[in-house]
Amino acid sequence: MTVIDNDTHQQSVTFAPVAGHIGADVHGIDIGQELTPDLVESITTALHRYKVLFFRNQNIGHTEHIAFSRNFGRVTASHPYDDDAPTEAPEILAVDNRLYEKRFGRKAAGYTSAWHTDISALINPPAASILRADIAPDRGGDTSWTNLAAAYANLPDALKEFVDGLRAEHRFGGRAPVWSTDSDYGKKVAAAPLITEHPVVRVHPVTGERILFVNPGFTVRIVGLTPRQSDAVLELLFDEIENSAHTVRFRWEKGSVAFWDNRATAHLAPTDVNHLDVTRVLYRTTLEGDIPVGIDGVPSTSISGDQFFGS
Ligand SMILES: [Fe+2]
Repeated sequence: MTVIDNDTHQQSVTFAPVAGHIGADVHGIDIGQELTPDLVESITTALHRYKVLFFRNQNIGHTEHIAFSRNFGRVTASHPYDDDAPTEAPEILAVDNRLYEKRFGRKAAGYTSAWHTDISALINPPAASILRADIAPDRGGDTSWTNLAAAYANLPDALKEFVDGLRAEHRFGGRAPVWSTDSDYGKKVAAAPLITEHPVVRVHPVTGERILFVNPGFTVRIVGLTPRQSDAVLELLFDEIENSAHTVRFRWEKGSVAFWDNRATAHLAPTDVNHLDVTRVLYRTTLEGDIPVGIDGVPSTSISGDQFFGS
């Protein structure tokens, strides 16, 4: 456990790791307050070390959520395809199961069940995401995260060597979009698709760690392989990122906040509440990301879509 004293604001923050490879509970901080530079630095360091930080009982609204996010980077608009953001807070994405049917034009779309890194189909996927719970179900609805640096490190050397130079195509919607193609959302995506070729192994710009940067939510193929070969390789890599040894699972309560390094993790939305009549409402901000770079120094290339900037 790391303890950082912050005399100016009388906040004494501690980071308590909660799993073998990923996740730490953060105690002793009210993120609705203005943070000192020291505190911002401590949280940033912990974020890169633990990959996802969990805060409890944070009584904040959209304004404080956005203000907290701005300490760590430029905050993007809610989402490249979202137009449900509250007008007073265009940076806020609502993760609200009551909206899904309307948004995706498909009854009982529920939660997407694939592990994913937020909007990895972008040429510059978000550097981090900050998600807070406003309405949490009494049971179910947990989110899991996986450490993609641990996933890479756990590959046998021969496989590391094989994947180090590969590139993969990420496409918004993946292979099986949750929306109907004739819905407004489907038409919006088809009119301006997001497709990017990323290195399969990216180098984290801060930690220098090698990250296994593929996910079943967005990665559709390995470039240069036949479809059958590509499917086999991706299946093998997805197995590794989904290895429970690299993961942590978080139970939401009202006022819970999860802050993750989106460059080094993937996460899984819950599907265990889809059959229940429950409401689950979370709100997310995302921080502007950089263009990934492979071990060979070659950056990602856009096939369709522009960079997503924040302010
Ligand atoms: Fe997500």
